[in-house]
Amino acid sequence: MGEYKNKKQKENNLSDLKKAEKEWQEKKYQKTVDRFGLRKDNFESEAGKEPKALYTPLDLENIDYQQDLSFPGEFPYTRGVYSTMYRSRFWTMRQYSGFGTAEETNQRFKYLLNQGQTGLSVAFDLPTQIAYDSDHLLAEGEVGRVGVAIDSVEDMQRLFADIPLDEVSTSMTINSPAAVILAMYIVTAEEQGVDQKKLTGTIQNDILKEYIARGTYVYPPEASLRLITDIFEYCSQEMPGFNTISISGYHIREAGANAVQELAFTLADAIEYVKAALKIGLDIDDFAPRLSFFFASQMNIMEETAKFRAARKLWAEIIEERFDARKEKSKLLRFHTQTAGTALTAEQPLNNIIRVTIQALAAVMGGTQSLHTNSYDEALSLPSEEAVEIALRTQQIIAEESGIADVIDPLGGSYYLEDLTASFVEKTKKYLDKIDQLGGMVEAIKTGYVQQEIQDSAYQKQKEIDEGEKIVVGINKYRRNNQSAEMDLLKVDSSLEKAQKKRLNNLKKERNQHFVQKTLEKVKSAAETGDNLMPPIIEAVRAKATLNEISDQLRDVFGEYQNRNI
Ligand code: 3HC
Repeated sequence: MGEYKNKKQKENNLSDLKKAEKEWQEKKYQKTVDRFGLRKDNFESEAGKEPKALYTPLDLENIDYQQDLSFPGEFPYTRGVYSTMYRSRFWTMRQYSGFGTAEETNQRFKYLLNQGQTGLSVAFDLPTQIAYDSDHLLAEGEVGRVGVAIDSVEDMQRLFADIPLDEVSTSMTINSPAAVILAMYIVTAEEQGVDQKKLTGTIQNDILKEYIARGTYVYPPEASLRLITDIFEYCSQEMPGFNTISISGYHIREAGANAVQELAFTLADAIEYVKAALKIGLDIDDFAPRLSFFFASQMNIMEETAKFRAARKLWAEIIEERFDARKEKSKLLRFHTQTAGTALTAEQPLNNIIRVTIQALAAVMGGTQSLHTNSYDEALSLPSEEAVEIALRTQQIIAEESGIADVIDPLGGSYYLEDLTASFVEKTKKYLDKIDQLGGMVEAIKTGYVQQEIQDSAYQKQKEIDEGEKIVVGINKYRRNNQSAEMDLLKVDSSLEKAQKKRLNNLKKERNQHFVQKTLEKVKSAAETGDNLMPPIIEAVRAKATLNEISDQLRDVFGEYQNRNI
């Protein structure tokens, strides 16, 4: 009787609330609207959902706490992947850094570590990202420009000089040549006396988003997927503490995707990688615990928080229901966040400090494991030391002073946030079904479907800015005629290219060329026979073969990918 009575009571309360809400809507809200109007006709956000004016307990009616939210560290992890979250340990403060030569970047790493950052993140220059050495014709003018120039294991040793690799986790943003850069990291650790089993960190190793949005692909998709799963296999046996991929939504979002597309296409990529790993015979619970993710954090603080919470729930359900994962660690969507580069403005650049703060708050309230905060001058150049310090301090102030790290999932239970989280789950599932119908993400990219969806969103967003529907302060409203005072921007010394080429030349003169040749032949043979490529690549790196030389063995066997739509 008690239970029935309570249920009845609850229904009465809800029906009373429905009546009360209707009354408020008609007698209060609408009356005021009729008198004062609304600030704008459409409040639709990027998640493609026009938010209501007000959310109440009525909006939680279809949410089952245990099933949809549960507890932090409990399936489906909506409220966080760890049971204690930041009460035990803040997220990793991990500033993406790299420019010029290995020495210059090593100095920046040490500066950031001294300022309290708790993880490293390497930005490589473009020649390195597309597997060319600094002396390659196509490297002209790009050496050390957008990241650090790494040609050989000697450069890697300089990059991490005096930084004990068993004491810090390092993320490396490298994709097509990921296997070679990972091999250089392993050999660098070896030279420091650190066993690869002790290494922690992440290799981005996510080629699908390169075809979709970023463009630093080298090999055709089948070969790229093979290189990626070779890293999965090698690390599951030799480097248990290393995350083998950072499945990235960041670049997809930065290319113009909206928040739902960012989430959906990232999870669709993840499904493709899991399928590729299962296809070569890996067990889901051997590699899934070391899959990691990477998202952007844009300006709509509630939408971004909801996106991260929905991501955890969706991935936990996918990995368990679709791939029968049994280990808890296989089901955790652990992710890094970078605040949105495209939100930064060159005009009134100090405004960017506030933008980055808002985006960082969303990432923290969304439960990120690692965070990069953009510097206010990054719309103009690579970050100056002063700007990167403010970016890091932003994280430290949020962590130490705001109080939001003291409570797990602090916005959880907000009528609006829970409704928004549920809406992300529903809309993402629709995209995943569509991609399944197209035959999976590789097929969906081949048809150009994914790229078209992103372009349409990018166009829509730009149109709203151009028409003043979407306000960007300092750009289409609150402009200032006189431009900001000259800022002290970071300049990369162009003479470093010459020095880097000279250094590379010396390396080639001093090494044992015969031994190098032997190791390169072994790389090529493994590429041909289908053996795991990591061991021969490590041996070639140890012999001081360069990134380009090793990658050329793979180019010879796999060919290079030319066309945009795979
Ligand atoms: N309770 C229990 N354990 C906890 C805990 C808690 N509250 N908090 C942390 N831990 C443990 C974790 O379990 C982990 O131990 P384990 O590895 O043995 O499981 C350890 O402490 C470290 O914690 P995390 O793994 O959560 O944090 P990390 O920082 O080490 O890893 C990550 C985070 C997202 C999993 C990882 O993949 C990562 O660091 N990614 C970073 C990627 C990155 O920096 N990318 C930059 C790309 S830049 C780019 O591409 C943009 C450019 O192109 C413009």
